[in-house]
Amino acid sequence: MKLLFVCLGNICRSPAAEAIMNKFIEDRNMADHITCDSAGTSQHHAGHQADPRMRKHAKVKGYNITSISRAFETEDFNNFNWIITMDDSNYENVSSLAITEKDKKKILKMADFCMIKNCNFIPDPYYEGDQGFLNVITLLEDSCSQLLKYLLKKENK
Ligand code: 4NP
Repeated sequence: MKLLFVCLGNICRSPAAEAIMNKFIEDRNMADHITCDSAGTSQHHAGHQADPRMRKHAKVKGYNITSISRAFETEDFNNFNWIITMDDSNYENVSSLAITEKDKKKILKMADFCMIKNCNFIPDPYYEGDQGFLNVITLLEDSCSQLLKYLLKKENK
């Protein structure tokens, strides 16, 4: 099963989601079965490492962010089973590139899996301070955990 996490810049939220999910997958010895990648709807930061603030806060929590930013491309619909978007704008942008119904059904909203807070989107921390980054990590830890359970259950049906 191949998962692609998508945000705007692919330097804050989606690389963090990728690293958190990778840790959960490794902890469950499922790395042979599930792989993760991330991308941005904008190519503004393509080729850049993730934001140093996000890398720093994630590292303290035990997550190693190594991804390099890249833009989402239509071909990703062929390469991934699930495409998980961080906010409504990402969702709309990715949806506008989906051609088939099968592609459209691959697109999920990360916030739909967040149980600890009633949130409709994973907020962009780029213009926030430390608290903004820590909040995103907390939301993503919960969402990744619920998402993983959901996808495994769905797969076994
Ligand atoms: P991300 O955060 O979408 O979570 O990677 C952002 C990073 C950069 C910008 C916006 C959001 N930016 O405007 O450069």
